Amino acid sequence: MSVSNIVEFRFLAEPTDVNFGGKVHGGMVMKWIDQASYACAAQWSKHYCVTVSANAIRFIRPILVGQMISVEARIVHTGKSSMHIYVVVRAGDPKGSKPVITNRCFITFMAVDQAGYPIKVPVYVPETEEDKQLEQVAEQAKDFAKKLDKDFEEKLGWK
Ligand SMILES: CC(C)(COP(=O)(O)OP(=O)(O)OC[C@H]1O[C@@H](n2cnc3c(N)ncnc32)[C@H](O)[C@@H]1OP(=O)(O)O)[C@@H](O)C(=O)NCCC(=O)NCCS
Repeated sequence: MSVSNIVEFRFLAEPTDVNFGGKVHGGMVMKWIDQASYACAAQWSKHYCVTVSANAIRFIRPILVGQMISVEARIVHTGKSSMHIYVVVRAGDPKGSKPVITNRCFITFMAVDQAGYPIKVPVYVPETEEDKQLEQVAEQAKDFAKKLDKDFEEKLGWK
């Protein structure tokens, strides 16, 4: 049986998720993204996983309390131990309006053993043309994030 590369969470935005401006807190959205991505990475690798980095989190539209939220996380690229996940968040009125995309990002997880050492993960093979495009974009995002890490270290001396 093949393992699905997709996980979707669905729930309502609650009053406790809201910030002083009355909209859902950005940090809450980041938590949802991290949780759905963890579930996606654990499902794919069948191991405990840790977050390596979150790249290009975009806040496109605000989310309102009472809206139905969908957080869809899908593996779009794998390395040796890393899983690169595209996440899209949608929100809409559960009484009927069409959901809109509120956030998207790439997030990377790594499968680790009990001692924290990396574990090899199954290889993701894109099938459709869209899958192939998304994998290319994910690889570019990974390269950019790693270049930032390198710049912090080499140009600023920060580890
Ligand atoms: C995650 C962690 C184990 C990575 O250790 P590391 O020695 O820096 O990792 P590496 O440089 O070997 O990179 C590990 C993988 O991540 C990838 N990677 C590294 N930096 C990356 C970045 N900025 N963006 C995307 N991928 C990245 C590497 O390509 C490598 O993938 P591969 O094994 O498929 O080739 C370590 O940084 C750590 O423990 N961080 C804390 C994790 C944590 O607490 N997360 C939050 C709670 S779960």
